[in-house]
Amino acid sequence: MLNDKRILLIITGGIAAYKSLELIRAIKKQGGSVSTILTKAAKQFVTPLSVATLAGEKAFDDLFDLNDETEIGHIELSRAADLIVVAPATADIIAKMANGMADDLATTTLLATDKPVMIAPAMNVRMWEHVATQRNVLQLHNDGIMVVGPDEGEMACGEYGPGRMAEPEAIIAAIIEALSPVDAEKPLQGKRVLITAGPTHEPIDPVRYIANRSSGRQGYALAIAAERLGAKVILISGPVNLDIPPGIEVLPVETASEMLQYAKDELPVDIAIFAAAVADWKVKNSADEKLKKQKGQDSMQMQLVQNPDILQTMAKLKTNRPQLVVGFAAETENLLENAKAKLLKKGCDMIIANDVSHETGIMGGNDNQVHIITADKVESWPKMSKQAVADRLMEYLAAMLGHGVNI
Ligand code: CTP
Repeated sequence: MLNDKRILLIITGGIAAYKSLELIRAIKKQGGSVSTILTKAAKQFVTPLSVATLAGEKAFDDLFDLNDETEIGHIELSRAADLIVVAPATADIIAKMANGMADDLATTTLLATDKPVMIAPAMNVRMWEHVATQRNVLQLHNDGIMVVGPDEGEMACGEYGPGRMAEPEAIIAAIIEALSPVDAEKPLQGKRVLITAGPTHEPIDPVRYIANRSSGRQGYALAIAAERLGAKVILISGPVNLDIPPGIEVLPVETASEMLQYAKDELPVDIAIFAAAVADWKVKNSADEKLKKQKGQDSMQMQLVQNPDILQTMAKLKTNRPQLVVGFAAETENLLENAKAKLLKKGCDMIIANDVSHETGIMGGNDNQVHIITADKVESWPKMSKQAVADRLMEYLAAMLGHGVNI
């Protein structure tokens, strides 16, 4: 898209000028705006009226138009544009540009500009292949001017070969690419982020397990957010019903013990976020065979033992501790007190607290409302989608890491 982008289109005198009308429409369709300059020769092929009508603004054509110069000078005309496109670019204007000539509004504007310039050459095949034209085009290329086309094909004059102006679709694609921002350095580039997500399944026997209602959505959203910021993401996931996000390494696990082992195996990491709803308990001696009801049995006992606390283990590592360790506190009452106590008990750097009492609808839903708790402050964020929480949180953690938060 070319939203809010302004193109200055310079139309020179070639039969391909009719395709420039198509180009104006295409730029506008992409959300851009177009100002136009026609050379004297261009006016032999298209009229200023049709150009102005399609562009929705006056078409400029004369350097010495007193009114135009007081309204908008050639310098302003070029400065207001994000990109100048010469299409079609004849052998004549290419030669003038290569030599820095300025004898009309088009060439003067091109010489006065500090904006990127693109040309779409169009001419007879022999003119294109002429050593002078090739020398001029090479000069423009070396001067940093973008050259689109020409295409090969049958010419208006009946000859065949290179010289046809590139199609408007190809020119518009080149314009969009030229105006796309180069990716700024991503804040988590080169960082490793480990995330646990989803529930764990603790086996009772080969067909039964203890589980919980976690959907894994918040953890997966965090993984997507971290990847967007350039991190290498390792997502250790309990059993969930979610698509595997592209570009993210997913390590599927079932139990808390497996989750801890995988987490340790992935060290060192820069940030570790423990978003999994890990079962606190596992069955002490889970059965290898399916448990059968015994005759006359009307109750059964299962002994549960505590699972390892993954967050706490990782936060209290003596070596290889991740620089930032983040936990979640899903509470149904006394949210902030419980969450603050968890921060201390587990030894992590941040707790994301959320109220998962039934009436909030957060458990398993798409939205979340969280409080960010660190050693020295509590920040309450409004209710938003789990992806929005994830994006904001990853930005926050990237900033903490960038500022060298040491623990
Ligand atoms: N967590 C973990 N390993 C566990 C239990 C919890 O890594 N065995 C992590 C969770 O991923 C979460 C945080 O610890 O980031 C808090 O989990 P929560 O279940 O709310 O806390 P618990 O320590 O289990 O405390 P309680 O059940 O008493 O509220």
